[in-house]
Amino acid sequence: MKKIEAMIRPEKFDQISNTLIENGHNAITVTEIHGRGEQRGIALQFRGKEVMVNLIPKVKIELVIEDTDVEEVIGLIKEAAHTGMPGDGKIFVYDVERSVSIRE
Ligand SMILES: Nc1ncnc2c1ncn2[C@@H]1O[C@H](COP(=O)(O)OP(=O)(O)OP(=O)(O)O)[C@@H](O)[C@H]1O
Ligand SMILES: [Mg+2]
Repeated sequence: MKKIEAMIRPEKFDQISNTLIENGHNAITVTEIHGRGEQRGIALQFRGKEVMVNLIPKVKIELVIEDTDVEEVIGLIKEAAHTGMPGDGKIFVYDVERSVSIRE
C-alpha cells in the first residue's frame, strides 16, 4: 500500500474530491494547512505597500491505496488540480506498512 499526500489549492478541493469518488477512491483524510513551496510565499499589495505572505492556505488530502492504483490517482489529482500557475500543489507518495480496520 501507498499513502498519497496531495497539497492542493483549497478552491480545487471539490473537483478533486468528486473525481476521486467517480473513480472509486472514496476514503480520504482532509486537513486545512498552511505552507509554502519554491516561491517562499506571495507578494501582496496592502495599503499601497508590498507585503510578503510567507504561508499560504492549502488543503492536504491523504489517501491510502493499493500500489497498483498509484499512477491512476496521481493522474486524477493532477488533472483536477492543475491551473498551470505557480502554487498548483505537490504530491508526495509514501510506503504504508499496515492498515487495520477498527470495526472488524
Ligand atoms: N518540499 C516540500 N516539502 C513540504 N511541503 C511542500 C514542499 N513543496 C511544496 N510543499 C507544500 O505544497 C504546497 C504547494 O506547493 P507549490 O505548489 O507552491 O509547490 P512548488 O514546488 O513551489 O511548485 P510551483 O512552482 O508550481 O509553485 C506548499 O504550500 C506546501 O504546503
Ligand atoms: Mg510554489
